[in-house]
Amino acid sequence: MTLPKTVQSSGRSSNAILWIAAAGAAIIVGGIVIAQLQPLIFPTVGSAEAQQVDALFRFMFAIGGMIFLLVEGVLVYSILRYRVKPGDLSDGPPIQGNTTLEFVWTLIPAIIVLVLTIYSWAVWSSTHSIKPNEHTVSAVGARFAWTFNYVIDQANLPDGVSIDQLNPEIADDLRDGGISFSYNQLATWVDQPVAVSLTTQDVNHAFWIPGMRVKQDLLAGRTTEIRFTPIEAGVYRIVCAELCGAGHGAMAGQVVTQLNEAGEEEQVLQGAWLIVYPDEATYRREFFEPEAMHALFPPEDPVLLGRQILASGEYPCATCHKLTDLNWATGVLGPNLDGIGDRADDRIPNLTGEEYIHQSIREPYAFLVPGYGAIMTQFNDEPNEPNYMPEEDLNAIIAYLLSQTAGVEAASN
Ligand code: CUA
Repeated sequence: MTLPKTVQSSGRSSNAILWIAAAGAAIIVGGIVIAQLQPLIFPTVGSAEAQQVDALFRFMFAIGGMIFLLVEGVLVYSILRYRVKPGDLSDGPPIQGNTTLEFVWTLIPAIIVLVLTIYSWAVWSSTHSIKPNEHTVSAVGARFAWTFNYVIDQANLPDGVSIDQLNPEIADDLRDGGISFSYNQLATWVDQPVAVSLTTQDVNHAFWIPGMRVKQDLLAGRTTEIRFTPIEAGVYRIVCAELCGAGHGAMAGQVVTQLNEAGEEEQVLQGAWLIVYPDEATYRREFFEPEAMHALFPPEDPVLLGRQILASGEYPCATCHKLTDLNWATGVLGPNLDGIGDRADDRIPNLTGEEYIHQSIREPYAFLVPGYGAIMTQFNDEPNEPNYMPEEDLNAIIAYLLSQTAGVEAASN
């Protein structure tokens, strides 16, 4: 017995609806499963902002996964179901226009885009909003290093230090609002909102901490800002994400293997890192106070002062130069500074070693060590010029470099 035609076709279409519903459910579940792969491809979550950014990314990843499964599913189904039969050389039926289909495939993407716009706007406003009690640090990008400036004022003097113990000039500056010290790492502590203001000494750079999910361009002549709140103590790599010249790749935190004083191999951090301490007390004890003491009580011996200035990372020399005494191990763009005190005097006829190093920093292109390009930053003696280096700093640096005589001579120098 055959069923009436209408019953047959309605049976087939309710079957089709079941199949479509099952495929739809599989696509939705599949998309959600794909989104769970996100932590495998992202770096560790280090900040409150990272949690928000990752949740947004997982949401987009789920939608992308569903679209992927839908498109690939239809493709595979069509290949199997509608493949050509042997000997059939005819064309398929001509189909033109399907208003319902066009309406659906316009409406669904429009809804997705609208939802993503609202959601990402909410995340953006939250991650970029000013937080109460922010710890403000200024960061300077220069070819090819990061420098961070920390303010010391009367309120955050190291324990046991009073303003009367300081030399009068430093004491006056403290009363006038504070002094700052520079360091080549960014340091803060867990649960402390941080605002980093970013300026560049030369070309555009981009400040990126993948673990914090923050990235911001540094634009010549402008100050930009970035905010994050660390939630996990640890060490996070800082990276320059804007091609800025020959040392761009080195303008980032690196882990290098070196021999320590006992002659053992040891992994050390070089370049810029974000170091997050577990709490404010640890931050003050282990990072802020020792560094502040250097700035509040600078050594009188110019050799020690010059060493302290270079070790602080205030000037970006370590990226391009090697100098064993300061653990600068990776720089290859500029001459090796080991043993510079032995050869500075003989480098240029008529110039003493002191005059030669002075010229190398104030007018780096006046003389180039053979084999090296004209890429050294010129450090100027006026505060309103870019790459300002006060004459006192320069004199201390020269005294220190001239003291570097016992080091290893590099063959290329
Ligand atoms: Cu700075 Cu790339």
